[in-house]
Amino acid sequence: MDLETRLRRRLQRMYDQAAACDAGLLSPVNLPRGRALLLDLGYPEAAIARLPAWLLAKAFPCGNPLPAIAALRPRPASILDLGCGCGLDACLLASEWRENGKITALDLSGRLLSSGRQAARELGLARLAFVQGDAGRLPFRRSAFDLVTMNGSFNVIVDKEGFLRQLATRLTPGGRLLINDLLLVEPLPPGFVDEPDNWAWNIAGALTAEGYRQLCRRTGFSLVSLRRGELMAPVQAAELLLRRAD
Ligand SMILES: C[S@@+](CC[C@H](N)C(=O)[O-])C[C@H]1O[C@@H](n2cnc3c(N)ncnc32)[C@H](O)[C@@H]1O
Repeated sequence: MDLETRLRRRLQRMYDQAAACDAGLLSPVNLPRGRALLLDLGYPEAAIARLPAWLLAKAFPCGNPLPAIAALRPRPASILDLGCGCGLDACLLASEWRENGKITALDLSGRLLSSGRQAARELGLARLAFVQGDAGRLPFRRSAFDLVTMNGSFNVIVDKEGFLRQLATRLTPGGRLLINDLLLVEPLPPGFVDEPDNWAWNIAGALTAEGYRQLCRRTGFSLVSLRRGELMAPVQAAELLLRRAD
């Protein structure tokens, strides 16, 4: 079985298990979880206070994309939260944009999506749709979105070039991709990238800044901005904004 298939199975099992546990027992290391993690990442206290408490423990964001999304001009009208997990960002965006805009949220894990759907019902969010699917085979029409946001789900894509070429067809001309994930800042040990577990924790699939530039050149995107966060060598938290050519 190839790495991609093994990783997809590993991720589905891992995140289905995570959906079933409220204490955030996903990680082998003691990462902060739930409300503490979200505040740490800069999610506004008032916004997360409106979400059901049980949802917060099921979220595994790498960063907080909300300020970057709020700053985008023109404002995106149709957003895809790709690798949405339990729908934390999708619910926050849909709560903010009740009147305008449509949010679609896609994930591999059926259980995390059930949590998202339940939260959307509790919050009365009508303009939010949850879809089960695989980033490698996006079940959407051409030019369906003007923003795709990936919070912790880009690094687990093995064929990033194929993925970006496919994504470009689902974005409108000039459409944007916002990535919150880990950036590679030091070389990984030999053999590290052959192990699905190292991919599942978003490290083996991390790119360097130069890796992103090369990937953009090959796929018709431009790298608009790169913001670096906490350093946890060999990786560093980062937020990248990519733009599809017109
Ligand atoms: C680190 S979690 C982040 C979840 C969510 N964005 C959040 O902030 O809580 C990564 C998510 O990506 C999803 N995922 C991983 N690979 C995927 C793929 N190929 N297609 C769709 N979703 C995927 C996982 O199921 C998981 O929910």
